[in-house]
Order: sequence, then C-alpha cells, then structure tokens
Amino acid sequence: MKQSMQIEVIKELIHQMDTKTTCDAGRVVISPTNVYTDAALAEREWKAFFEQHAQVIGLSPELPRAGSYFTNSDLGMPILATRDKDGKFHAFINACRHRGAQLTDEARGEKNRFICPFHSWTYSADGRLMGIRQSEMFGEVDKACHNLIELPSQEKYGFLVVHPQLDGVIDIDALLGPELAAEFDSWQFDQCEFLGESTIDKALNWKLANDTFGENYHFSSLHKDTLINLAHSDYASYREYGRNHRICTASRFLDTMRHQPESEWNFSFASIAAYYIFPNIQLVFVGGMVIMVRIYPDRQNVAHSISRVSHFGMPHVKAALGSDAPAQTVKAENVYSADPTARMEFDVTAAIELLVSTVEHEDYAAAEKTQIAASSGKLDHFLFGRNEPALHHFHNNYRAVLGDAPLEEYRAA
Ligand code: FES
Ligand SMILES: [Fe+2]
Repeated sequence: MKQSMQIEVIKELIHQMDTKTTCDAGRVVISPTNVYTDAALAEREWKAFFEQHAQVIGLSPELPRAGSYFTNSDLGMPILATRDKDGKFHAFINACRHRGAQLTDEARGEKNRFICPFHSWTYSADGRLMGIRQSEMFGEVDKACHNLIELPSQEKYGFLVVHPQLDGVIDIDALLGPELAAEFDSWQFDQCEFLGESTIDKALNWKLANDTFGENYHFSSLHKDTLINLAHSDYASYREYGRNHRICTASRFLDTMRHQPESEWNFSFASIAAYYIFPNIQLVFVGGMVIMVRIYPDRQNVAHSISRVSHFGMPHVKAALGSDAPAQTVKAENVYSADPTARMEFDVTAAIELLVSTVEHEDYAAAEKTQIAASSGKLDHFLFGRNEPALHHFHNNYRAVLGDAPLEEYRAA
C-alpha cells in the first residue's frame, strides 16, 4: 500500500475513534440462512467459484528457490506446484503418467526430480518425463507425450495462481483490478518469508468461515479475552475493489502511534488489515506478518470446510521502520498480554497462536454453532448490519456471479 494511502487509512481510523463512528453500508440486509445448508447451492458454488475459476494457491515465498514444491488437494484434484530450474512456477496434476500414482504426498519440500513411488518413473521439476525404469522391459514409450499434465498457472504480485481447467485462462490483473493490483504490488510479497502452516478443519459451511473475517463488530464480545488486547472493536476502514475488499481495524498501538510524528506512522503496526480476494482468500496483516487463509468447501458436505493457513514474515517491512518507538517481539506466550503502547512485532508462534486461540477456538467455534442453528431450519434469515459492509459485499458478490438476486434490505416496522 502506498505511504499516502497508509496515512489516509490511519487518519480515517483515528477520526472514527474520535467521533465514535465506523464504516457504513447504509442499510441493514436480510441474509437467508439456507445459503449455509443448501446442497444444490453448494454445487453451483463449487462449479462457478472453484471448478471454473482461477485459484490463488499460495504466495511466491512458498516456492523460495528452484526445486521448491508444495501440494494441494483441496480443489478436487491432486496438484503439485513447483519452481523449475529457471525459476518458473508450474502447477501439475500430481499423478504419474504410467498408472496415475501420486508423485509425492508431502505437503512441501525441495526436489529437482520426482521419482514415482510405484515403479520409479522420473520427472523433472518442469514436468518432463526423464526416465522409465527398465524401459527395455516396459516397451517403447514416446516420453515427450507423457510429461506431467500441466494446469494453466501464473505468478504475479507475489500470488501463485492456477486454473483448475486445462484450457482455463488466468488474468490476475483482471481478478484484482488495477488499484488492488498496485496495492499488492507495493506489499512486495516476493520479499516475504514463508514461516509455517496450519489447518482448521471444522463443521461449518465455507461461507460461514469467510464471514468470520468480514467484520470487527464482534471483537469486544467474542474476543474479549484474546484479540481485544491487540485491536479495537467496531472501528473499521472499509474499501471495495470489484469483487474483492479490504477491512482495516485499529490496533491498540495506534493509541500511542497517533501522538508520534506522522512520518513515523507505520500502517503494519497501526492496523490489523484483512483483504478478501474472491472467491475464498483472506490475507490478514498483523504485527509485521501476513497470514493467508484459503477456505475450501467440502463438496460432499455443505456443513464442512477446510481452512488452509500459511504464515509469512515481512522482513522488508520491519527493516524499513523509522520509528524510535520501543518495539517488542510478540510470541505465543505473550500475544494477549503484550504492552499495547509499544510496537508489536509478531513472530510466527504469535501468529499461529492467534489463529488457534482467536480464529479456531472462538470465531470458527462460534460459527460451528451458527451452522447448527442454520441447519435446524428454524431461523429463516440472519441480518447483516450497516457496520458489516464486507458481509453485504461478499454475499451480494457470489449471488451476482450465480445470477441470484441481491440481499433484500431490512426495514424495521
Ligand atoms: S505409476 Fe508411476 S511409475 Fe508406475
Ligand atoms: Fe473474529
């Protein structure tokens, strides 16, 4: 994000705190609860958003060097993502061309050659079939016609994007739009460092998981013993970029930072920002780290989803700090008891703890109960408030893509 925009968002948050206001969608809307339970809708979503739509499967630092790879099995097919010896990103179907064995079931690692565990056919990181064991016994095979099956892929602005269809077209610029593309470009994700990953596996629809990131109205209630020690409830700078959006919450440290010279303000420590990228990506910036959450539906069970979480350090953000304000390293053990008047620099243990104790044990745990309520069929709708514009946007977005009517306005009698 450009420095001028960082300052603008910080000033907006300070103004909201001073005037006790927040972002405003302008109206309350009615959201039907069956969007979390309707198997036919879930199938339409799967086809439109996951089968026929480009997918962000990671950030560039997840493939830090030639020979790096990771796997993904959340899109209805096994995917092997690699970086070849020339540094190019590829996404292959993780299946041997002999009889389809999976080349690796490791989550990630480093390899320049993939040797099939079944009969040891060998592939290079750019997908070429290099060797057939006992080829004289096996019989003649045209190797060039039996390279790994490659999906369309693109790497730009630090995003690793694949298309699940072999003839799919990826246009990252069109997906983000020029403003958001420029904003992500300025974050320099390629300078980030992959630090670890975790998975949240819960009995809730993927949209309920997504909803938990869409407002901070709940911070002072649901997170009264956890996140509220790091961030304010209620105040939020909100902005839309086509189907994507950004919601920025005021950090506790902003109470101190606001009295420092503007030249020393630093957005990464003034705010906890969450970007939503259509259809299923949340990127959370907290304490000088980025946390990417990829939320996947379970095609067999509308009331179940998997959230894949990747943690990244931003050494370039920390290196550029000009502030003399005392910083503190925040770790798992002090994440909710750190001094809010000092800049909080998260390490990976703090980020993982935040994801477990706040997101998994509070947000998603509450959302599992919401799922039970929705599944009971006894509540026909929920309400999204004026202060929850990201929820309006997310739900109206996917409804528009599916050709469904926008959410109806609620009017008190
Ligand atoms: S299935 Fe891979 S070598 Fe046979
Ligand atoms: Fe939350």
